[in-house]
Amino acid sequence: MGNFKIFDWKLTSYDLLHGLGLLLAIYWTGWIVYTRVFHPLARFPGPFWASVSRAWIVRSVIRGNPHETQRLLHARYGHVVRIAPNELSISDPEAIKIIYGVNSGFIKSDFYLAFRAPYTRYPDHFTSTDEKVHAQRRRIVSGVYTMQSILQSEPYVNKCTEVLLQQLKDIADAKASIDLLEWTRMYAYDVIGELYFSKMFGLMKARGDHLGIMKSTDTLIPAMAISAVMPSYLRSFFMLVGVLFAETRKALSALNDLATAADSAVQSHVQASSSDDSVIRRTDIISKVFNIHRDQGEKLDFQIDDVKLEAFGGYFAGSDTTAIHLSTTLYYILKNPGVYAALNNEIVQATQRGELSFPHISYHEASKLRYLSACVKEGARLHPSVALTMPREVPSNGRSISGQWIPGGVCVGINPTVVHLDKTVFGDDAEEYNPDRWLNPDADKMNKYILQFGAGSRMCMGKNISLCELYKVIPELLRSYRLELSSPQKDLETSGFWFYKPAPMNIRVYRK
Ligand code: HEM
Repeated sequence: MGNFKIFDWKLTSYDLLHGLGLLLAIYWTGWIVYTRVFHPLARFPGPFWASVSRAWIVRSVIRGNPHETQRLLHARYGHVVRIAPNELSISDPEAIKIIYGVNSGFIKSDFYLAFRAPYTRYPDHFTSTDEKVHAQRRRIVSGVYTMQSILQSEPYVNKCTEVLLQQLKDIADAKASIDLLEWTRMYAYDVIGELYFSKMFGLMKARGDHLGIMKSTDTLIPAMAISAVMPSYLRSFFMLVGVLFAETRKALSALNDLATAADSAVQSHVQASSSDDSVIRRTDIISKVFNIHRDQGEKLDFQIDDVKLEAFGGYFAGSDTTAIHLSTTLYYILKNPGVYAALNNEIVQATQRGELSFPHISYHEASKLRYLSACVKEGARLHPSVALTMPREVPSNGRSISGQWIPGGVCVGINPTVVHLDKTVFGDDAEEYNPDRWLNPDADKMNKYILQFGAGSRMCMGKNISLCELYKVIPELLRSYRLELSSPQKDLETSGFWFYKPAPMNIRVYRK
């Protein structure tokens, strides 16, 4: 160790290290006193470590159980809990409108930037934090996502369902058991392939993730979620370190293949439109988005890259979310024999009355099945697809939430997995899967407390795609097959890294 001379003092490296340690200790003591005593959020309850450092929330996300932790915290401390020095988790159902309502003035926090693709001219809808830019860009494509427009894609959804039913036939004949999550994922990914990339990814046909794209989201989404809750100055470093791992590089390479698939889907539209105006007959989403570019691209500044960005948005936001909704809804139907029997009965009766077409049930027909609708809503309530708070910045002049004044600039958010279990809204059996609650005459009142698809101006854009899939495929599946959980006594295991993912759920499939 060397010596350093400052003025007349001779300092050894040990002295310097001690000095540094002392400075750090003074800084930390000052910081802790500030966050615990003088910070505008000092009066809010919560775990000690959460109030002094974001390391607490990072650890909770790394462990994959932020949903469980936040439920426990709200049960202990009430509706407003401090989960980071400058962040509050809110569980008051009445706060949904205040925070997420249209024109609430709350904006998405920098949490979302961790999910943003680099090098795009405009941010994608999900990660856009500038409300004005977001509204402008979303308006360009919003017509594509109305239910009326999505239903023009029904033939493509039907095509995917045909593949699923055919594969299940072979699986039933082989008396094999399958993982419900894996198969609903392959289904949902293939539907996204069909709608946004002009053809299925072929996962169901290959009976596995032959392109590595499911694995890729399994690697990237948790990394992005961990990065999103970190202090923003650490994110680039964290992601850079991540690239040193072979898993991450493989995931990025699978994404690269996806970019090539998006290029080729869009390219085929470019070629078709230059050779014959009437060639583009597909009524899938990418064709409609491409047509906007072709007809109004210049006026709206909507370029080819924006068309591809839309495809990526659909892929990231619309495949696992839908698979989680579909698989967990099916799981709870199978787990509750009374529910399964009632739903089967509704499907049989409607079929006998000639109200459900063959070979494919239309969305319009399915949406008239009241019990099916109750099962789907209850699935979204009990097991929403997102397991973290959806953070927003409080407007600069502050707001009152749950009877408490929250200063401007603070981050607040509601976790769907917490608020969906609120007993004052959903009843004492809120932790049970009970579709009947949606059949009560005043059930509509509960809708405004459901955050499955977000709310307000940032409400999910692909909601109608997912609902179209779920409403159609569930009765088609149950009409052809009897499904059975392999371990009906086992409780559902879950993990939460932004997506609220169930663990594998093995089922057996029997032909009817
Ligand atoms: C069951 C399936 C789905 C669920 C549970 C779901 C859930 C959500 C939630 C909770 C949000 C709001 C996030 C926030 O405010 O932080 C959201 C936004 C979004 N979702 Fe979905 N989503 C689903 C399917 C889809 C599909 C199929 C697409 C395909 C296009 C999609 C595209 C988007 C987009 C683009 C946004 C951002 C909207 C905006 O901020 O303007 N989602 N989704």
